[in-house]
Amino acid sequence: MKEIYLAGGCFWGAEHYFRNIEGVVDTEVGFANGDTPSPTYEQVYTDTTGYAESVRVIYNPDALPLDELIKDFFCAIDPLSLNKQGEDEGTRYRTGVYYSDPADLDIARKVFDEIQAGLAAPLAVELEPLRNFYPADGRHQDYLVKNPDGYCHLPLKIFRYPRLVSDLGHLLGDEPDFIARLSNAAALLKERMGFFWTGFYIVGDVDPSGASHGHGAPSENGKELILGPFQGSFACMRIGYGSGVCGTAWKERRTVVVPDVEEFPGHIACSSLSKSEIVVPVFKENEIVAVLDIDSDELATFDSVDAFWLERLVRVL
Ligand code: SME
Repeated sequence: MKEIYLAGGCFWGAEHYFRNIEGVVDTEVGFANGDTPSPTYEQVYTDTTGYAESVRVIYNPDALPLDELIKDFFCAIDPLSLNKQGEDEGTRYRTGVYYSDPADLDIARKVFDEIQAGLAAPLAVELEPLRNFYPADGRHQDYLVKNPDGYCHLPLKIFRYPRLVSDLGHLLGDEPDFIARLSNAAALLKERMGFFWTGFYIVGDVDPSGASHGHGAPSENGKELILGPFQGSFACMRIGYGSGVCGTAWKERRTVVVPDVEEFPGHIACSSLSKSEIVVPVFKENEIVAVLDIDSDELATFDSVDAFWLERLVRVL
C-alpha cells in the first residue's frame, strides 16, 4: 500500500470522492503543511495556521497507479483557482499534492506538466513534500457518510461516477461479447444516473443497398455509425462520419460536450425532448469502434466531470 496527501478544498467532499474510487483502501481527513503543532479544526478555520485541509489517501498502486489517482484529483478541483474551491475561500482551501515518498515527485510532476500543457493560465496547485499532517477530530472523518445531507462544494454526480465505473467493471467481468458489454453499460448508466437516453452507436458497414438514411451521407472507408444497445426511446439508426454530434466525436476523435443541442450545427434530433448531450468515443487500441451517446432533457447537463469519468467508463468496455 502507498499513501499520498491531497488538498482539494473542503475535506468533507474531497474525502467522500476519494473513498469511492477503486484502488483507494482508506482515507483520513486532516491538516497538512502548516505551522502550529496539533491544530484544532477551529484554529485552522481562522486561516492563520498555514494548514491546508487535506485527505490522506491510502491506495493500492497495482489497482490504482499514482498518475491516475492524481488525474482523478484534478477532476475534482478548479486547478486555476487560488485559495478558493467552490464557495470556500481561504488558504486552508488551497489545493495541493503532498508526497511522503520522494519517488512520487517525478510521477506527479509528469501529470502536472500534462495538465498545465492544456491550460492557458498557470496551475494554482501546490506540489510539495509533506512536511506535517495532523488528523482532524472524529466529527470530520467520513463526514458525508455520517451526514448525507451535509454541506458539500462538489456536485453530487462526482460521487456517483467512480462507483459506477468500478461496478461496471465487476458486472462485465471477462464477458467477451461486445454487444453484451455495451448493453449492460447502457442499462447501468441509465439506472444509476437517470439520464434521458443512454446508448451506443457502433462503427459498422454502410448499408450495401446504398439507401440513404438521411444522416448517412459521408462514410469513412465504407463505415458509418449504426445504432447499438441503448436505453430510452427509439432513435435514428445510421449516422455518417462527421454528421451530428456522434459523427463529429468519431471524426475528431474526442469527447464532444453540447450544452444546448439547438446551438450545435448539424445536430441530429432523435427526440425533441433532448436538450443537451455528450458523446464519448470508445477506442480499441487506437481505433474508434463505437461512441457512447448520452442525452439529457435539460440544458447544460454535462461538463468536464462527466467527460472525465465517462472516458474512464468507456475504457472498461
Ligand atoms: N443527437 C445525436 C443522434 C443520436 S440521438 O441523440 C440518440 C447526434 O446528433 O449525433
